[in-house]
Amino acid sequence: MGVRIKGLGFYVPGKRLTNFDLEKMVDTSDEWIRTRTGIQERRIASNDEATSDLAYQAAVQALQRAQVKPEELDMIIVTTATPDYLFPATACIVQSKLNAQNAACFDVEAACPGFIYGLEIARGFLELPRYRKVLVIGAETLSRLVDWEDRNTCVLFGDGAGAAVLEKDNTDHGIISSYLKGNGALGQLLILPAGGSRRPATQDTVQQREHYIKMQGREVFKYAVTGMQEAALKTLERAHIKPEDITWLVPHQANIRIIEATRERLGIPEHKVYVNIAKYGNTSAASIPIALTEMVEEGKIKEGDLVLLVSFGAGFIYGGMLIKW
Ligand code: ACO
Repeated sequence: MGVRIKGLGFYVPGKRLTNFDLEKMVDTSDEWIRTRTGIQERRIASNDEATSDLAYQAAVQALQRAQVKPEELDMIIVTTATPDYLFPATACIVQSKLNAQNAACFDVEAACPGFIYGLEIARGFLELPRYRKVLVIGAETLSRLVDWEDRNTCVLFGDGAGAAVLEKDNTDHGIISSYLKGNGALGQLLILPAGGSRRPATQDTVQQREHYIKMQGREVFKYAVTGMQEAALKTLERAHIKPEDITWLVPHQANIRIIEATRERLGIPEHKVYVNIAKYGNTSAASIPIALTEMVEEGKIKEGDLVLLVSFGAGFIYGGMLIKW
């Protein structure tokens, strides 16, 4: 018995923030951002939109496409680093909005690879007899945690959500293999220092701007490339598949140069790599489900395709997943 994605959906807020807009906010340029990251614009949630609102929109689309009613869901997993609250879980808020009254719900904080972690957790549950339909959502409003005075980080991130409905499947389609890994010793290189139990919010933490993302970009870059490569190769090895045999590489959209370096190291031709970073920037856990939804909408992914997902993020954690579509 396998596990297969039955429907996908995504949602991004309407407001576009272009590189030219950023030129007016910090000392940067469209040219620098484009050549260093591949990003041209990103979407920004409106003041009355939180992560659960984005997640809900993506979920509604995924459920429609999977032809699954909210009450049929056995579980809702939201993967996010930017929950509405520390508690209750964003998944509970989404459950309430959907009126998915039969679903268990919880959040997973696994940064950028969150969606891959979420799929793997869903797969585990779906291998048990009791669970039949699971909704996995990657959703972020990183614009709320970005320091809009820090040019090193504010140009990189965007808001969005992507969702997938997973079901048991008795064909040979679906999730084939995966690889999840952590390296917690390097956590300080990408961190949001305050607001948790280590550094609760005080006047001092606010004044020190500790409620914003702090990142040592060059170091993160280096580990991202090696982590993505390791995750891709181990995932393929576990499935006895060679890099040249995959149809699509769908990498986390963090930086075009990270994607390009990963692609080169794997020896995968450019036309097999899906890239949409120019439109959305780094949407963390939402980046892979947004990409997958677009690919399906555009008819790029076809039945039987071998699709390799790979991601890396704060923790550090990284992971890969191979899916036969
Ligand atoms: N505009 C203009 N100049 C800038 C900007 C900016 N927005 N940001 C940084 N610079 C400057 C720096 O201050 C530095 O100036 P200096 O040499 O005078 O000190 C110079 O540009 C070069 O800085 P580097 O850090 O060497 O630039 P790099 O080529 O590494 O690019 C970047 C920086 C884009 C952040 C890159 O390191 C990166 O993408 N790292 C990965 C980060 C990432 O993706 N994190 C997301 C979470 S993890 C993940 O999702 C993979």
